[in-house]
Amino acid sequence: MPYTETDCQRARRAFPSLSRTVNGRPIAYLDGPAGTQVPEAVIAAISGYYRTSNANLRGEFVTSRETDQLLADAREAGAAFLGAPSGREISFGANMTTLTFALSQALFREMKPGDEIVITQLDHEANRGPWLLLRERGIEVREVALRPDGTLDPEDFARQVTERTRLVAVGAASNLLGTVNDLALARRLATEAGAWLLVDAVHHAAHFPVDVQALDCDFLLCSAYKFYGPHVGLLYTRPGLLDRLRTDKLRTQDDEAPFRIETGTLNHAALAGVKAAIEFIASWGRGETLRERIVTAMDDIARHEHGIAAHYHDTVRQIPGVKVWGPDFSTPRRAPTVSITVDGVEPIDVARRLGEAGLQVWDGNFYAVRAVEVLGLAETGGVVRTGVCMYNTREEIDRLIEEIERLTP
Ligand SMILES: Cc1ncc(COP(=O)(O)O)c(C=O)c1O
Repeated sequence: MPYTETDCQRARRAFPSLSRTVNGRPIAYLDGPAGTQVPEAVIAAISGYYRTSNANLRGEFVTSRETDQLLADAREAGAAFLGAPSGREISFGANMTTLTFALSQALFREMKPGDEIVITQLDHEANRGPWLLLRERGIEVREVALRPDGTLDPEDFARQVTERTRLVAVGAASNLLGTVNDLALARRLATEAGAWLLVDAVHHAAHFPVDVQALDCDFLLCSAYKFYGPHVGLLYTRPGLLDRLRTDKLRTQDDEAPFRIETGTLNHAALAGVKAAIEFIASWGRGETLRERIVTAMDDIARHEHGIAAHYHDTVRQIPGVKVWGPDFSTPRRAPTVSITVDGVEPIDVARRLGEAGLQVWDGNFYAVRAVEVLGLAETGGVVRTGVCMYNTREEIDRLIEEIERLTP
């Protein structure tokens, strides 16, 4: 059952911020890859927690018990969202970057000088920087080449993974170009080397259902603020693996997974919002279980997003002076994120002019800084990125195209 135009209009009514105007025009949030808007159900869950249940964990009183239950429920919702066996495999943190740094410390303790980590040139710096820092401590870090068409070079991937590789750290989808990477290849190469596979699914999880068991990954990270939730990072770890890792932790902290990597007090109210965001997505799907509803909803919404992003891609590329970066939309394995450059106009000026018309798009490198360097765009301000999510419409894209046409010489 498709996610129709009517569904999209109904979804839009669930997001209070969509009713804003800018300079007399309706605001168009095309900045989703940097963080989506939040529906009323998520806002209500966060404020509801503060209204009734605000407490710390494991106390002998009602609000604390409710908070214990909330965290357990949020982990179960996270497990359903990622296809994990249970909430025991889901840890929370401030964001994906912070969790990746924590993980890098723990994995380093399992390595010896000369061991290797493979990263990619396409990845967001959050899945590069924590690993690159380990070079200071004797770990070799190798990077898989990005090709000019915006895809990773599979032959180079095979060359970079050696018998010394202990970790392959790769993104599922690019927040710069919308490329969806070949994770089956990454899994095969990691398995041959006896290495862990870590997947940065921050961009991917906002648009496609994730199945950690099908991916057979050891670690997978994502961030709820990219899928209609608050600023919280989620980490999936393969059952039994986190319990064995020596994480940075206090002696007072629980030794077991999923708590072992969670330092200090979590943002409980935000976790109420994470659970609500996942349930909000599921409310657009079908099936008996939460997991089934999430997967069907995301599949349907992905088709809506793909259609609108493909329309933008195929139209904007025909405007003289506009260059589109990254793969085309001939395959459904393409995230609905499209980056362009406009001859003679700097990305920052394009974004500013569009912003004045109420069209919110990002300019720059979005921390995919290595990819922007490799593509030769670092000196010229990067790209202008448009992201499409469940509340974006074809009409917004047509407005965007019209404004871009006005910008071109
Ligand atoms: C692909 C990708 N990975 C990682 C991150 C970092 O996520 P966080 O802000 O949760 O640290 C982002 C954020 O934009 C991203 O798009």
